[in-house]
Amino acid sequence: MTGIDAAAADAHPWWKHGVIYQIYPRSFQDSDGDGVGDLRGIRARLGHLEWLGIDAVWISPFYPSPMVDFGYDVTDHRGVDPRFGTLDDFDALVEDAHARGIRVILDYIPNHTSDQHPWFRESRRSRDDPRRDWYIWRDPAPDGGPPNNWLSAFGGSAWTLDEATGQYYLHSFLREQPDLNWRNPAVEAEMLEVIRFWMERGADGVRVDAVQKVIKDEALRDDPPNPDYHPGVDDPYDAQLRILSGDRPEVHDVIARMRRLTDAYPDRVLIGEIYNAIERLMAYYGHDGAGCHFPYNFQLIKLPWDARTIDEAVRGYESLLPPGAWPNWVLGNHDRHRVASRVGPAQARVAAMLLFTLRGTPTLYYGDEIGMRDVPIPPELVQDPWEKNLPGQGLGRDPERTPMQWDASPSAGFTTGEPWLPVAEDFARVNVAAQREDPASLLTLHRRLIALRQAEPALALGRWAPVDAEGAVLAYLREGEESRFLVALNLGEAPARLAGDWAGEVAISTHGEREGEAVRGTLELRGAEGVVVRLRA
Ligand code: NOJ
Repeated sequence: MTGIDAAAADAHPWWKHGVIYQIYPRSFQDSDGDGVGDLRGIRARLGHLEWLGIDAVWISPFYPSPMVDFGYDVTDHRGVDPRFGTLDDFDALVEDAHARGIRVILDYIPNHTSDQHPWFRESRRSRDDPRRDWYIWRDPAPDGGPPNNWLSAFGGSAWTLDEATGQYYLHSFLREQPDLNWRNPAVEAEMLEVIRFWMERGADGVRVDAVQKVIKDEALRDDPPNPDYHPGVDDPYDAQLRILSGDRPEVHDVIARMRRLTDAYPDRVLIGEIYNAIERLMAYYGHDGAGCHFPYNFQLIKLPWDARTIDEAVRGYESLLPPGAWPNWVLGNHDRHRVASRVGPAQARVAAMLLFTLRGTPTLYYGDEIGMRDVPIPPELVQDPWEKNLPGQGLGRDPERTPMQWDASPSAGFTTGEPWLPVAEDFARVNVAAQREDPASLLTLHRRLIALRQAEPALALGRWAPVDAEGAVLAYLREGEESRFLVALNLGEAPARLAGDWAGEVAISTHGEREGEAVRGTLELRGAEGVVVRLRA
């Protein structure tokens, strides 16, 4: 936070100017040779994160779990799965991370548990078990089918019949992930305590999984059909507008209570995971500081890599943000194809510059800093239940979850055992150790972009203003009290230019060697080049 003085730091908490790095713990670093990453492994790799300059890690779930959805099916929200370590390992990780100035954000999964969770095992025992109402049970429809048309995100109906008790239970995701009934105050009270538990243990915030799902229509009315759905092309999950199976107005009251609890601890952050239209997303900021600090903004993941499309998206997002709402941007995560595979290696450099120069908190997915690509997974090695349910449709998430590539040693330095997913074939070349030594590498570019952002309040916290550009060029200004920057990105492979009366010097280029070069008048860009220009005052 070198460039941001103490007064600014007070007005702008760390989660505004900080860079978040997502760790998928199964795949980051294994410390015990079982082929699955763990908390000790993360701790051993904190040096990389500190060197890179990130401010916080968000760690995907490490709680006890049968791992049907790799940790998003929890059997104890207050523990650590033995595959990942122990609570002592968690404490040691937090202590070491904090000593390095790195905050620790956890995944909080309120919508569902594992079907092996003791609550659900009790709940399914009988219709009048005291835990019955902790989950969402309904009688079959008159024809014996599911109570309504809601769909599971991973394929098929969101309802599964429990033969023994003759009722269906709701699962917005896998049938092994039954939805909790947040309309039951006992459920809410117990689940809010989970946030308190981890905050007391030193967590700096939570990323709230699938938060819009937490409250569903009380009358369980059918979701309406989606008029824009293309059968055979789109994910069958998108056949309906999911406006009754989730995203209900009352969810904001629940989030307000999560937020109140978060705010009871200094300097913590509440981030919502919400895949929805931008207009709908904005509601999750809440009113008067009662919502998420920010709902994740996944536009860069979803949109085609096209300058005009992204320009329009950035302008639209900036214009829709409610007063005082802080923006954020995400390029990749454990649910979507890797950015280097989506846009290619040359544009991955441009994408990094975009992520670290837009206004708002950037979240970087592990391995994207070295350009890891989706790894093709042979059918016999498929792990992800989504791929198993709907094979061959490109929905599986294993390709973007493969082991981190640390060095050229066997299994890329990830494990001494057999890795749970195959390591990318290019690991001998695409790895942290090799790229650290290379001033032209993508890793070095990430480090330099993060350093520039952290040194320049205009980039970390300043205003954003659009710049009109044409063709493959995307351009905008970032402005602070003391400095102004022009960011110009060429999303095409041919040389391009940004007309204007620009005056300044190149602060950083995706192509390296231009730094310090004077800029006068029109700005020339090489193919797939992005530059940040420090404008003359
Ligand atoms: C969103 C998570 O990111 C994803 O990985 C998970 O499968 C679902 N929520 C269900 O928890």
